[in-house]
Amino acid sequence: MSRIFSGIQSTGNLHLGNYLGAVRNWVQLQDDYECIFCVVDMHAITVWQDPAALKASTREVAAAMIASGVDAKKHIIFNQSQVSGHAELAWIFNCVARLGWLNRMTQFKDKAGKNKENASVGLYAYPNLMAADILLYKATHVPVGEDQKQHLELARDIAAKFNHDYGVEDFFPQPEPMIFGAATRVMSLKDGTKKMSKSDPSELSRITMTDDADTIAKKIRKAKTDTEPLPETKDGMEGRPEVSNLLGIYAALSDVSLEDTIAKFAGKGFGDFKKDLADVAVEKLGPIQDEMRRLMDDQAYVDSVLRDGAERARAISEPILAEIKDTVGFLRP
Ligand code: TYM
Repeated sequence: MSRIFSGIQSTGNLHLGNYLGAVRNWVQLQDDYECIFCVVDMHAITVWQDPAALKASTREVAAAMIASGVDAKKHIIFNQSQVSGHAELAWIFNCVARLGWLNRMTQFKDKAGKNKENASVGLYAYPNLMAADILLYKATHVPVGEDQKQHLELARDIAAKFNHDYGVEDFFPQPEPMIFGAATRVMSLKDGTKKMSKSDPSELSRITMTDDADTIAKKIRKAKTDTEPLPETKDGMEGRPEVSNLLGIYAALSDVSLEDTIAKFAGKGFGDFKKDLADVAVEKLGPIQDEMRRLMDDQAYVDSVLRDGAERARAISEPILAEIKDTVGFLRP
């Protein structure tokens, strides 16, 4: 059976983009793949995280995965820092990846902003750790949102260069990105040209997995739109990023195609559409949020899932890491 690896950073509240672009798809893949899902707390600290908040966020992300329907018994949920192989392989990949490759990473440029000199070295080397996450398990498939595509291309380049440099053809597989669904890139509710993200200063830009029904409805009501009625065809979405985004969110949440969603609301005004969108969001997210709250109150249980997952992740990765170290030429006792 092919193996999936994917991860989410524990940097504050999970939002609708993380859910629709990633977690929801993971749940659908569980029957056909062996899955390893990771809360990447080591990636999180590439920008400053308050230690207590980081712990809380790691548990929240794990709770969201479980509440969304990831089966932690059949598959693996764990936090990255519990398996030291991630850091060890990341170091080896720091020596495989080229500076020129990392210089091309758009996410670093976005996150570092104008003051690049002051960004952490970890933020720069971030994609190498991500490649290590995937290849430590020789994962073949990686379900992610659109924004991770470039990082996955880098992971493929690292895998190929390692295989080539050490003369171990086919040792690392070429991990395949799996980017699918109606919402592979959920945009900000306040600006349809910007990605919905945890770091946007405006709370109104995103729906989080901890928002209650009233807050969800309020954020959708206040979402930016334009003055035209809803489009009648897909072509009618051209040049209307906010409208396209909201229609995509509706389609993804209600599990209907974008075409059918457009047909349903064609020519209508935003008042009715936003009300329906809020209803479907509350209906879909509500049960997950209730379960998340229950899990967040049972810290011991969430911690035990992560501990057990880490143990099983180590069992898979340790023999692979041992082979990697031998290939590189590290003496082992
Ligand atoms: P992160 O934590 O930023 O996001 C987690 C997942 O959510 C997806 N996502 C989105 N999808 C659609 N619309 C959006 N607005 C949106 N925002 C986020 C992301 O694409 C991702 O799938 N580097 C990764 C974490 C990571 C990882 C890995 C992923 C570390 N190691 C190994 C896959 C495999 C990240 O920062 O995701």
